[in-house]
Amino acid sequence: MPDPRPVPVPRAIDRASVPRHVAIVMDGNGRWAAKRGLARTEGHGAGEKALVDVTYGAISLGVKVLTVYAFSTENWRRPLEEVRYLMNFNRGLLERNRDDLHDQGVRITFSGRSDRRVPKRVVRDMNDAQELTLKNTVMTLNIAFNYGGRAEIVDAVRRLVKDKVPESKINEKAIAARLYHPELADPDLVIRTSGEYRISNFLLWELAYSELVFSDQLWPDFRRENLFEAVREYQRRERRYGGVDT
Ligand code: IPE
Ligand code: IPE
Ligand code: MG
Repeated sequence: MPDPRPVPVPRAIDRASVPRHVAIVMDGNGRWAAKRGLARTEGHGAGEKALVDVTYGAISLGVKVLTVYAFSTENWRRPLEEVRYLMNFNRGLLERNRDDLHDQGVRITFSGRSDRRVPKRVVRDMNDAQELTLKNTVMTLNIAFNYGGRAEIVDAVRRLVKDKVPESKINEKAIAARLYHPELADPDLVIRTSGEYRISNFLLWELAYSELVFSDQLWPDFRRENLFEAVREYQRRERRYGGVDT
């Protein structure tokens, strides 16, 4: 995947305040396909181009972590055929892109629950991609797969119990340390495509103070220019964290 389309970062973007961690709800694949009279799965397939392009855009911006929502704990409710397609598609996506991502210095990680419904070969490919890219430092591409924000908090609580943490030691730090990837830090910017204004169980704990940007683009149409626009919008915001501006 040598950068197919080198697009310079617009000068309007302040390189000194690029969001360190960007998280994206890649939504609208089904509607993109329906508009074209295609099967929903074709929309998922078309989303790969968007993901690759946005990943390059994020690297050129200097983003350090890009978390993408690929499959939620609720997406099992979809028709069996679509679920099956998504499992294989995500595996194929890894196979098609992991070597190029590795060449670019991207570390691939996953957030989500392990689940017996995820085919073994998918798990194997996820582990392989993770292992191959473990030492890369340019950017982390964190793929939220079988991910649910509530499930993540439940899993963290289970770990607290397992670690026998006494009640007096249970605080935000103790919980945050037991989330799937505490080392990635919270997202600064969360983007959702497709004109939906909801979180859909994404990163519930981590997005407490993230800036939210909503885009009307359907995910397969989203490109790095749209990421740059979202970052400009982010840079116009004032983050206060509950304090007052002095
Ligand atoms: C997002 O697109 C991809 C996944 C949830 C896997 P959708 O499949 O939700 O597309 P819409 O929202 O139905 O258009
Ligand atoms: C969120 O999108 C999940 C992913 C993008 C993987 P959904 O399409 O599943 O969310 P809802 O159903 O519109 O809330
Ligand atoms: Mg959707």
